[in-house]
Order: sequence, then structure tokens, then C-alpha cells
Amino acid sequence: MLNLPRRPRRNRRTAAIRELTQETTLSVSNLIYPMFILEGTGLRSEIKSMPGIHRFSLDTLLEELKEVTDLGIRSICLFPNYPEDKKDKTATESYREGTLYLKALSEIKNKYPDLTLMTDVAMDPYSSDGHDGYVENGEIINDTTLEILGKMAVAQAKAGADILGPSDMMDGRVGYLRALLDDEGHTNVGIMAYTAKYASAFYGPFRDALDSAPRFGDKKTYQMSPANAREALVEAQLDWEEGADFLMVKPALSYLDIIKLLDDSFDIPIAAYNVSGEYAMIKAAAQNGWIEGERAMLEVLTSIRRAGAKAILTYFAKEVAQVQNG
Ligand code: PBG
Repeated sequence: MLNLPRRPRRNRRTAAIRELTQETTLSVSNLIYPMFILEGTGLRSEIKSMPGIHRFSLDTLLEELKEVTDLGIRSICLFPNYPEDKKDKTATESYREGTLYLKALSEIKNKYPDLTLMTDVAMDPYSSDGHDGYVENGEIINDTTLEILGKMAVAQAKAGADILGPSDMMDGRVGYLRALLDDEGHTNVGIMAYTAKYASAFYGPFRDALDSAPRFGDKKTYQMSPANAREALVEAQLDWEEGADFLMVKPALSYLDIIKLLDDSFDIPIAAYNVSGEYAMIKAAAQNGWIEGERAMLEVLTSIRRAGAKAILTYFAKEVAQVQNG
């Protein structure tokens, strides 16, 4: 025998020992399920580039939520798909009383009061320019955008949102929204800041889902460069100071180092968004028989948890729940 007093394989010998020594766990309670709503009734249309994910009209969404909550999923994040004729330069539809999204929030909250309801605060689903901010002569104007986001945020809080998700990457928005929410008495409504949101190729399927691709240019003047890590610390410091309740990193997989960096540096929960393109890659490879989809899903989500994310927004939420419920 070789003299090897330390043999790490001993702790991998049986399934029970492997479980005893497991460092990271993945549970449905860590997951937030992003869902899409569109106008109409009786609709349930699959998004081509996101197999298994649908856009629902309000009635079918409420039905679907029965299944989602029965599976043990306790948090969702809702995104709206609006037709072109409802979009304009100032995203007025985003805060108009009675608009689909706000109506959906209050009906969901009514029917499922225990469900944590997260929202999207950004102009792109309502913007005729397809940008997250207000556009003037081809430029995204930061401070004008904040005023629009503020109206949107207060309207969502009134409609019953639990956590607002500003996904726009404008400067100062967390503090601006926090102050406005507090002024209006919504001190219990939380903010999950999209802190380090990168200008990523992995949002493609999501933009298909919402028909929200930018009509000109790209999002590089507000979303971060994939080459940067230290800049994420600057964003995180600001969001922390401005009152964010969670710091989010998006996408997740190419940015595990950023998740770890923020988790090491800040004492508030870190979230990660396992985005549409990351979902689509696994689905496509699995459908081709090139990888085992279920194992790949669990491996990816566990790695995001291992990197330091407490909460994960993922289109896999239902499947994880199905696997874990046996
Ligand atoms: C934009 C927004 C995007 C996502 C959520 N909110 C993409 C974008 O910047 O165009 C992407 C989510 C995903 O890809 O799953 N406010």
C-alpha cells in the first residue's frame, strides 16, 4: 500500500456518505419562476426558442399558477408581452391604470396571496424603441427614464407586488425607486436590483418572447461589458447604499465569478438570473440527445448556488420541482 493518509475518495464511497458531505443544496425554495403574460383569453402559446415555456393570457396563467404552486414553487417573476400598437416612446402603458400587467398582478395576488410576486421594472416591453430607457436622438436618457420607472414601480407596488426587479441598468434607479416607494407608504415592498446585468448574447430567446429586441443599436451604453468584474463591485456598492434588498447577477453561467465576488463582498442575499439563452442551450442539446437534460439542469443550478446565489431566477423551476417531488 502507498502511504496515503489523506484519501478524499473515502468520502465519496457510498451515496449516504456523499450526501453527508455535500456542501451545496438546491431546493425549490431557492427558485423564482419567470412567467410571461399576454393579452387575450384562452391563450397558452409556447415560445419557440424556449421549449416548455409559454406565454399565457391572464385566465390560463391563473390556472397554470395552481400547478406551479401545487409543485411547491413559492415565487414567480412576471413579464408582459404587449402588442406593438400599445408601445410608445415613454412606455405609458406600463403605468396606465387597468393595463394588462397591473391587472394581472392584482388578480394573482388576490388568488394566491402567499405567492411571492416579483415584477420587472424597465421600459423595454412597452417601448417603441425596444430599449430599457427613454430615447432621444438615439441616446438613452438616464434621468428622464427614472421618472418613468418611478411611476411604473409605484403602480406595481399598489397592484400587489412583493419585490420589484429594476432590470434597466440606469444609474441611481434603486435609490430613486426606494425613496418614491417609501414616500407612498410602500416600505414593505422590496427591491431586487439587477446589479450586474451584462450586455449578453444569452437574452435572445427572451427578446423573442416579448418581441422586445432594440429597434436600433444595442444595450451597451447601459448594460455592462462581459469583460468587467471590478465594475460589478461599483454597481453593487451603489445598489447597497441605495437600499437594495438583493443584488442580482445576470446572466448566471458565464458570471459565476461575479456571483462569488458579490457574495464575498456584501452581506445581503445575492440572486442570479439563469437566463433564457442558458435555458435554451440545455434544452436544445438535450432534445438532440447530445446531453442528459435533467442532469445538466441540476448541475448548472447547483453550480450557481455553489458560487453564492441564494435565489435563482430560472425557467427550469417547474422541472426542478417535478424532479424533487419524485
Ligand atoms: C430587459 C430584460 C431582459 C431580460 C429580463 N429583462 C433582457 C434584455 O436586456 O433585453 C432577460 C431575461 C432572459 O434572457 O431570460 N429589461
